[in-house]
Amino acid sequence: MKRVFLIVLDSLGIGELPDAPLFNDHDCNTLKRISSSPFFCFENTGKMGMGNIDGLDLPKEDHPTAAVCRLLERSMGKDTTIGHWEIAGIVSPAPMPTYPKGFPREILEEFTRQTGRGILCNLPYSGTDVIRDYGEEHLNTGKLIVYTSADSVFQIAAHEDMIPPEELYEYCRIARGILKGKHAVGRVIARPFTGTPGNFTRTANRKDFSLPPPRPTLLDALYEKGKTVYAIGKIGDIFAFRGVTERALTHSNAEGMRLLSKALDKDFEGLCFANLVDFDMLYGHRRDVDGYARAFAEFDRWLPTFTERMRDEDLLIVTADHGCDPGHDGSDHTRESVPLLVYGQSVNPLNLGTRSGFCDIAATVGEYLGLSFRGDGKSFLPLIALPTQTEKSLCAAAIEAQTKAYSPYSEFSVGAALLTESGKIYTGCNIENAAYPSTICAERTALFKAVSEGERTFSMLAVYGAKREHPRGFDFADDGKIENPGTLTPIPEEPTEETPHFPDHLHTDAWFSDGVCPPCGVCRQALSEFCDPSMPILLVRRDGTFRKTSLGDLLPHSFTNKNLKN
Ligand code: THU
Repeated sequence: MKRVFLIVLDSLGIGELPDAPLFNDHDCNTLKRISSSPFFCFENTGKMGMGNIDGLDLPKEDHPTAAVCRLLERSMGKDTTIGHWEIAGIVSPAPMPTYPKGFPREILEEFTRQTGRGILCNLPYSGTDVIRDYGEEHLNTGKLIVYTSADSVFQIAAHEDMIPPEELYEYCRIARGILKGKHAVGRVIARPFTGTPGNFTRTANRKDFSLPPPRPTLLDALYEKGKTVYAIGKIGDIFAFRGVTERALTHSNAEGMRLLSKALDKDFEGLCFANLVDFDMLYGHRRDVDGYARAFAEFDRWLPTFTERMRDEDLLIVTADHGCDPGHDGSDHTRESVPLLVYGQSVNPLNLGTRSGFCDIAATVGEYLGLSFRGDGKSFLPLIALPTQTEKSLCAAAIEAQTKAYSPYSEFSVGAALLTESGKIYTGCNIENAAYPSTICAERTALFKAVSEGERTFSMLAVYGAKREHPRGFDFADDGKIENPGTLTPIPEEPTEETPHFPDHLHTDAWFSDGVCPPCGVCRQALSEFCDPSMPILLVRRDGTFRKTSLGDLLPHSFTNKNLKN
């Protein structure tokens, strides 16, 4: 019985995205900020490998227990709804509309026409101030108090004695019906209040009318297949309850964690999707660094109590939906990348580097739970599966092939092992030439050997490269021949360069310079002629461990025969 527990630490960003200035953000990094607090503790998330994530300046873990990754947001937004929709598979190309100057006339005229009621305020306003300033006029005229905030919301306040909550909810439904297309706000909110002028107070009858996701999400796909979708916290609301089979509201992170622990005792096949909102609501927006750090430490302490009770087929995914750096100006969210931790008995604790799109989570969960759903994402499940015997053999073959390299000029020896669909392994090494450009790489040697033997379909590639033992590994004899071509045992690893800070180009990421030899561009193109973009590529390191990537990840837009027909 496969169960996925997906936990969103609301607003736990890990550093600004390259386009942060478009969102009026700069120098924001929620996790980094809270790590400066004396209350910060990341003992257990650290053991999982949180500190190994690209771009993070936290202690590293040599033997992490979870697969980790930095995820970049593809959607043009930094709000909760868009972030969660992307986690569930949908990229939003445009931010949800906000109304710093109030709603346009055509919207309000249509609203008045359908409700028969006039409008007061129509500005961004604090919820308590708005009833203080407009409550009396509302009681005298029967007009509705319409206001907004920095978020994408259309809020309607009305006194319960004048307009009973049910009637107010009906007005919200009318507003929801009007606010479509470019005016599709994230939420319409009923804000009933009570009391007398000077003493108005809001009641507990607030009700949110969320915008349903524009396309089917992972939740819909699970629902359709009869799987469980258990929504904890505000998850149900974010998806307008679509695809949710069971839900539990929470009032705090502690309650969310308690419900998650309880969910471990339930028998179900599907997804338990939880949002821990205190990080954002109580500490991020209020710019409370120590409060945020304390809340994170609480989560960190709780984590092992959860993981130790997980079953063999359970998967735990921890991530975030956007940033809300408590040390940043203002009180708004911040445009950041987010962490991803994936833990489970079937997970290989690899560092997946940096990936573009929270939606890869949905694709991965979809694949894990046997759905065809991938949404806008790409599944990284094959990348984090534990190494198979085939993978181990292929890595060993690449290391062995490297010992045959002829590389007297660069003193860098490479071995490649290419697996055919029928299970045969073709190896190759780099073969250099005194006329330098005549050199051929190990990958192409293997590929061309195989193709020339009639092979056409391949299922995996392993590459290993290392400097040779003697720095000056060869000499020229009098007759011009090379003697002493050097022994081919690799020299001990040299310290790698410091991780360059994002937003440097992906290839400079630690992931690709951490003792691996990624195929060069020409080899990627040559391979793409015969191999599928999904073909796994194993980048083998000195200790025999490997990074797993795919041809499509390394070369997303190869030149193909289709381009020849333009
Ligand atoms: N090399 C490979 O064999 N494969 C690669 O993907 C990268 C580079 C070889 C070519 C050359 O002999 C040496 O490494 C240094 O560039």
